[in-house]
Parts: sequence; structure tokens; C-alpha cells
Amino acid sequence: MSTVKVHDKQFEVYLSEAVILERVKALAEQISQDYAGKKPLFIAILNGSFMFASDLFKQLHIEAELCFIKLASYKGMKSSGNVVTSIGLEDDLFGKEVIIVEDIVDTGKTLHHFLPKLMHQQPKSLKIATLLHKSEATTYPLALDYVGFDIPNKFVVGYGLDYDGLGRNLKEIYQVI
Ligand code: XMP
Ligand code: MG
Repeated sequence: MSTVKVHDKQFEVYLSEAVILERVKALAEQISQDYAGKKPLFIAILNGSFMFASDLFKQLHIEAELCFIKLASYKGMKSSGNVVTSIGLEDDLFGKEVIIVEDIVDTGKTLHHFLPKLMHQQPKSLKIATLLHKSEATTYPLALDYVGFDIPNKFVVGYGLDYDGLGRNLKEIYQVI
């Protein structure tokens, strides 16, 4: 199936399952080398990153921990912009080697606002692994340490990513036509 309809929009395959899994395996290899003996804590951001986090974690060959959080943004609470809070972060990050796992970085706004809140807990290190990066759309300064694919600024669904709640179960990543 090379095209699919989700709600009112038509999508075509952009990254096949095989291409995604090969890239995820390569990222896991890289992270396994970089974090050998460090027992990193992966913090995967729900909902979109659940599939990437699962496949990435399976391919690691080092000891590592994994937890999931949700982010909630609030508008208008501060003049400086959105306030992002996390739901479900029970781990104490002090002294830990932390890797954030994201499905996609678009403008970079979400992580740009959220990272300082994690830094406040004084982890030993804090890095970002994102499967997708719309680098053309990124306007907030953000250092991305592990990137699966740099993609054009077009809406995508599948492999955990949704269009209005649907499309997450697709094995491939689809781009809007
Ligand atoms: P920012 O702009 O803060 O946005 O980097 C990141 C969040 O926006 C969502 N997003 C998408 N979701 N297809 C999706 O299904 C897309 O093409 C897309 N672009 C951005 C996503 O929730 C991400 O975490
Ligand atoms: Mg997301």
C-alpha cells in the first residue's frame, strides 16, 4: 500500500519500514558506543515517540533505563511564551546521563522550552535523539545529537505519528500529497 487516506487527506509513502528500521538500528549502534558503561536514562515523549522508542531500545546492547512522559503546554501564563510541563516524570535526574527521545522536531519550540526544566534537576548530561527533523522549519535554537532523518517541511504520519489521532499504527512514514 503506497498511498493511504487519513481523515480527509491523502498520504504517500515517504520512508519504508525497512529504511526506518535500518536507520533506527544504526542510531542504536551509535548510542550503544557513546554510552557504553554509562547506563543512560531514555525519556521518551508521548504519544508520538512510542514506536521509535520501542524499536530503538530493543536494538541497544548496553544497560539502559526507559521512561515515558507527556508534555503539556499552556498559553498565556507568562509573557515570555508557552510554559511546558511534564506529566509522569517520577525519576530523579540528578547525576544521570539522560537522552530525550522524540518522534519529530519541527519548529523546536517544545524542546526549547522543556529542556531548561530538565537541566534544573542537574543531570550529568542531556542529549536529544529524534527520529525526524524538519530542519527547514526549526527556528528555535536546539542542539540535536542523534537525528534519524532530515525531512522536508511537509506533514507526515505513521510509525507513531498521527493526523488528528489516526495513522499511528502505520508501519511506514507517509507524507501528505
Ligand atoms: P515543535 O514545533 O515544538 O513541534 O518542534 C514538535 C511537535 O509537533 C508535532 N508535529 C507533527 N506531528 N506530523 C505529526 O504527526 C508532523 O509532520 C508534525 N510536525 C510537528 C509533533 O507532536 C511534535 O512532537
Ligand atoms: Mg511529539
